Amino acid sequence: MEEIFLDKVDSTQDYAKELILNGKDNFTVFARVQEYGRGRRERHWFSKEGGLWFSFDIDFNNASDLFTMAIGVAVREVCFRNYGYNIKLKWPNDIIIDGKKVGGILCERIGNKVIVGVGINTNIENAGCDNSTTFFSATGKCIDNKELMREIIKESRKIIDNNFCDVINEFRENMAFKNEMCYVSTLDTVAKILDVTDNGHLIVSIDDIKKEVFTGEINLCI
Ligand code: BTN
Repeated sequence: MEEIFLDKVDSTQDYAKELILNGKDNFTVFARVQEYGRGRRERHWFSKEGGLWFSFDIDFNNASDLFTMAIGVAVREVCFRNYGYNIKLKWPNDIIIDGKKVGGILCERIGNKVIVGVGINTNIENAGCDNSTTFFSATGKCIDNKELMREIIKESRKIIDNNFCDVINEFRENMAFKNEMCYVSTLDTVAKILDVTDNGHLIVSIDDIKKEVFTGEINLCI
């Protein structure tokens, strides 16, 4: 796999997209700083120096929530195994530590490839926002961003090559805000978060009636 290290870029995701359109394969783009980092729903993604911002390609023709959840499971596995960080996964794409968002995953399909973008507030002193945090604020430790990136890519490819084996069980065991009340964007209401289905949909309950949520996002009610 080719590693491309950039000092500053608009977005590693857009850079990766250009490379794929130009026929490039099997690479990762890592940037020290992104000036126009993007999150889901085209939200601005703050990407200051010290954080981990990268995008890589995987041969696969579907960027479903299940795919995104598989990358989350890879991030969780590496962070726990290598650093002892007990992160949780908020359906479908958020990485949580101490109940706050520390990172996110953005998967976008181009032809028979998915560009996987991972952003984690690693070595940043302060997230600067109440419902976000950083690994450094949570643990007081700095980690090697390049090493973390390589391990996440390796683990992600392993899970995809193993046909998503155990992804749903791992996600269930480490799901953030289970049994808590959250605002569910697609339902435009508050519901209790219960579980995920075998194909990665969210199960919630409203007045004890179960509902399946196919897409959207959830936010803890405080
Ligand atoms: C989200 O939580 O909405 C997903 C955030 C994904 C951010 C990463 S940082 C690396 C890659 N480049 C981008 O512009 N976005 C992704």
